[in-house]
Amino acid sequence: MQNDSGKTISIWMTTAEIPEQPVLTENTHADVCIIGAGIAGMSTAYMLTRAGKSVVVLDDGPIAGGQTARTTAHVSNVLSYRYYELEQMHGKEGAKLVAQSHTTAINTIEAIATQENINCDFKRLDGYLFPPDLKSIDEIQHELEAAHRVGLTNVEMVKKAPLTSFDTGVCLRFPQQGQFDPLKYLAGLAEAIERRGGRIYTGTHVEKIQGGLPARVETSSGKVVTADAVVVATNSPISNLATMHFKQAPYITFVIGAKVPRGSVPKALYWDTLDPYHYVRLQSIDEQYDVLIVGGEDHKTGQADDADARYARLQTWTRERFPIAQEVLFRWSGQVMNSDDGIAYIGKNPFDEENVYIVTGDTGIGMTHGTIAGILLTDLILGRNNSWAELYEPSRVRIAGVGDFISENLNVAAQYLEWVTPGDVDSVEKVAPGTGAVVRRGLTKVAAYRDENGTLHEHSAICTHLNCIVAWNSSEKTWDCPCHGSRFDTQGKVINGPAINGLAPVENK
Ligand SMILES: Cc1cc2nc3c(=O)[nH]c(=O)nc-3n(C[C@H](O)[C@H](O)[C@H](O)COP(=O)(O)OP(=O)(O)OC[C@H]3O[C@@H](n4cnc5c(N)ncnc54)[C@H](O)[C@@H]3O)c2cc1C
Ligand code: FES
Repeated sequence: MQNDSGKTISIWMTTAEIPEQPVLTENTHADVCIIGAGIAGMSTAYMLTRAGKSVVVLDDGPIAGGQTARTTAHVSNVLSYRYYELEQMHGKEGAKLVAQSHTTAINTIEAIATQENINCDFKRLDGYLFPPDLKSIDEIQHELEAAHRVGLTNVEMVKKAPLTSFDTGVCLRFPQQGQFDPLKYLAGLAEAIERRGGRIYTGTHVEKIQGGLPARVETSSGKVVTADAVVVATNSPISNLATMHFKQAPYITFVIGAKVPRGSVPKALYWDTLDPYHYVRLQSIDEQYDVLIVGGEDHKTGQADDADARYARLQTWTRERFPIAQEVLFRWSGQVMNSDDGIAYIGKNPFDEENVYIVTGDTGIGMTHGTIAGILLTDLILGRNNSWAELYEPSRVRIAGVGDFISENLNVAAQYLEWVTPGDVDSVEKVAPGTGAVVRRGLTKVAAYRDENGTLHEHSAICTHLNCIVAWNSSEKTWDCPCHGSRFDTQGKVINGPAINGLAPVENK
């Protein structure tokens, strides 16, 4: 995350103190081993410890170091898909359960923050869904009717959102949404998990997961956790080679945070109905200023490298609608996993042993989906009935989602053509300091990064998941896989699954 001067910074990191955790240094056993200390893994660990289970959480970074640190943390029952679309994909009863589960998740976050005394700035506020122009109100009208059908009877159509700087036109008001500081929330969950005997190990990379009794989770240091059940909450599941990665697609989304005088823009959540859509909220930073956080401009991971243009378009969009916005203090991007049918996959890992569970595909709505995972996976592990289980079942196939499934997988198939194209440049001599490029070398391709001192770092450009060719992301300085969203740093280290292993170094170039 960078500010205008290119300094790496995070809006959340400025306020939250994430407690440091030890690295796993010995073999151990727990009732449940959870991999991933983002909102999904930590919510699940919290619910399980509250139910009396012993848990071990493993993460190769710090707590909340994945996409949870990059979220804009709208806590909402307004999803990326409209409720009338969710009705088509999941049926009328299914869409009701979507609304009910996300509403429960908002309430749960609020209740946990209160019960555990977590000072995470949780606030209730309204959300406004508005059309891209004043004339397109059909979608809003359809959505109002669908929202009422699924049980969100307090949603109402209003003449405009409460903004003075621009007229949204007729829009929907969704009451009782929320926002919070996700890092403060996860710091509080960590404290509550440990108070109940849960153990959290960070800096601990998981290499292999084997279900069965006991399940075995092997780490790169050779230490092993055995458990009665395993929850893979790595955002993109590392336990599943193919099935789940054909049912979801990785997208990079962009955010800017501009300074505005405190109180000049009413605090609420705002979204337009474009695809990709813009998402807006406010965060107070001091007595005088708020940050107006505006996101959008998504593209498929590894299939564009024009972040500056996207940030510029976000700025233009912001300044046209909020002329009061001053300098841009923050800008950052991150990855979301979009499922084929608009909701996450939460439950048993398909084609695996009975005691391996996953949560993935939250489609940019990770705060509530992660909390739903905590509730649902705890019930599944404890053998309790849960009326959401079928809805979120990872092995589900919804006929109405098949169109997206086909087009996303045709897109993935097309990426393999990169094996026969020339490189980005014809020689590593053309790779400037601080940049990277893919270079053809014989039958294969090399990911070449030249650091600021001029030293060249070469790795195989072949993604260790399913062999697509990675692409250079000049904004984040990462190698991004255009197929299923694995991402690697300039030293080839994996920073996003589904890949488990890093890019192979190229010896003796
Ligand atoms: C810019 C942006 C804005 C967003 N805005 C919103 C929003 O307003 N509202 C909302 O609800 N959602 C939003 N989202 C989505 C939300 O941030 C994510 O969906 C959510 O944080 C995902 O949480 P998670 O726990 O599944 O994954 P993560 O937070 O990514 O956690 C996964 C963890 O797994 C660990 N891991 C991975 N592989 C391994 C391994 N091999 N060994 C050990 N550990 C491993 C990682 O280190 C990581 O900590 C946004 C996302 C982005 C990028
Ligand atoms: S993420 Fe699947 S091939 Fe790279």
